[in-house]
Amino acid sequence: MVKTEKFIPKAIEKIKAKAQGKTIIALSGGVDSSVCAVLAHRAIGDNLIPIYIDTGLMRKGETERIKEIFGDMNLQIIDAKDRFLDNLVGIKDPEEKRKAVGETFIRVFEEEAIYVEAECLIQGTIYPDKIESDGGIKSHHNVGGLPEHIKFKHIIEPIDDLYKDEVREVAHALDLPEEICERMPFPGPGLSVRIIGEVTREKVDVVREANAIVEEELLEQFCPWQTFAAVLGKGTGVKGDLRVHGWIVAVRAVGSRDGMTAEAMELPWDTLRKISSRITGEIPTAARVVYDITPKPPATIEFE
Ligand code: XMP
Repeated sequence: MVKTEKFIPKAIEKIKAKAQGKTIIALSGGVDSSVCAVLAHRAIGDNLIPIYIDTGLMRKGETERIKEIFGDMNLQIIDAKDRFLDNLVGIKDPEEKRKAVGETFIRVFEEEAIYVEAECLIQGTIYPDKIESDGGIKSHHNVGGLPEHIKFKHIIEPIDDLYKDEVREVAHALDLPEEICERMPFPGPGLSVRIIGEVTREKVDVVREANAIVEEELLEQFCPWQTFAAVLGKGTGVKGDLRVHGWIVAVRAVGSRDGMTAEAMELPWDTLRKISSRITGEIPTAARVVYDITPKPPATIEFE
């Protein structure tokens, strides 16, 4: 439990004391970076430049949501969709995909940091990230990792003593919208890890629409730890009177405590049938819907 009424003014003072000149933060729309952006904005106002990079691999409506919530800040929205998708052409291997997305993110962020003449960087590192990195368990290369070629005067990590549930408490206390406070995890490489094989514009469009449908049908009613759709490949179907070769969409809904292990949720048949009928009905190129019942382990939560 964090005492938000003490934590918030202290964090704002800490940022005020350390930040010099223009200070940037990569805003992803997740709860960690959102909380840091609000704290920093209260501390240094327009000297904070939140940078949101539209990778083309974000959820449906994400860019508009960010504009709506953070529009009163000195927000920079960078449309880098083509650059990300071009850099993914021909890449089929999951790790290579992650690398391509991560590297493109760092390059774009770096260019913007130089352009706005940023002197300081704010990062949304939380306590478990710090422990895992310090202990060498895993390095935390969230997409949006540290720009490598820029020397910042200060790197400020305002929430690095908090656990995730404490960050959510602070988010509530800062009056961030409920959908941000309680947001389920979204992978750094975005929708690219929900596409088997090469990432193409067509597959991204299908998976984005399918994700939106799955979230609409499951989030509020079933409160899964995480739920989403993935595009697996193509299969035969019938639409109208025609046989089509359309996309096979997988639906995933899991319960979990921390993402380390997970159980597939036992969803009612009616719900699954409705999702199937919406995906194949609303996405012209989708022919088939399957529900993934595999726990983690042996599967992972994401598909790649
Ligand atoms: P897996 O698929 O490994 O995922 O069972 C466990 C949790 O981590 C998220 N995830 C990622 N988050 N960068 C991230 O920031 C990544 O590359 C990444 N891969 C998976 C996943 O959504 C799940 O919540």
